[in-house]
Amino acid sequence: MKVGHIRDYFIRGILKTDTFQKVHENIMPMNELMAYYRCAIMEVETKFKVLNEEFSLQYDRNPIETIKSRLKSADGIVEKLNKKNLPFTVEAIEEYIKDVAGVRVICSFEEDIYLLADCLLKQDDIVLLEMKDYFKNPKENGYRSLHLIVEVPIFLKEGKKYMKVEVQLRTIAMDFWATLEHKLRYKKNIKPEILEELSQELYDCAEMTAKLDAKMSLIKNRLSQENGEEIR
Ligand code: GTP
Ligand code: MG
Repeated sequence: MKVGHIRDYFIRGILKTDTFQKVHENIMPMNELMAYYRCAIMEVETKFKVLNEEFSLQYDRNPIETIKSRLKSADGIVEKLNKKNLPFTVEAIEEYIKDVAGVRVICSFEEDIYLLADCLLKQDDIVLLEMKDYFKNPKENGYRSLHLIVEVPIFLKEGKKYMKVEVQLRTIAMDFWATLEHKLRYKKNIKPEILEELSQELYDCAEMTAKLDAKMSLIKNRLSQENGEEIR
């Protein structure tokens, strides 16, 4: 909600003075917090772009296909706070909502995911808080990705501030799969038997994407070998 909108409500007498005060007091810090998360996204994106550039100089190919970033919506934040029974405060968001800032890195090949994650985590300003490897342990529905929760510093006038960012690394094939699966997951009013059937079909597709990814890597490596190049 924008400050201007709140003021309009207030002027029209819809909000009581104390409610107005409370909302208004919270809006400025919240806007500031969101700006910090946007900065953290920029920092992490830049780190990946630098790695991509360096890698492409060295090996003549780009490990990263695309980077998609997003800031969690206010609704999404409120929903998660409610689910966790937490108050709507800047402190609660910073401490407990680890995916306000999200960076998704999409690679052609699975091995590049580990290479990029390793390179990121080796950087001395990055703090790893959590790692979930859904390649080694795919989810029951077939989902595969590498998830990291990291803290990255942003440099402000008053000094540096560490912000949490959720990084998801996955292959192009799995990103294609996850997009469709996400749609199914949030479809309401779908008959249970249809849901079950489609979930099974999607599971089969996830297994196919894993096989496709493995085969594409093999072909790439064979090609490098035939050209007398280092496998990368
Ligand atoms: P969240 O409350 O969803 O953040 O759960 P979590 O803390 O268990 O996190 P997890 O690392 O498992 O998942 C975080 C994010 O990864 C989700 O918000 C999705 O963007 C993505 N994700 C995880 N599992 C799936 C899945 O089965 N399908 C799809 N399409 N995306 C998934
Ligand atoms: Mg999440």
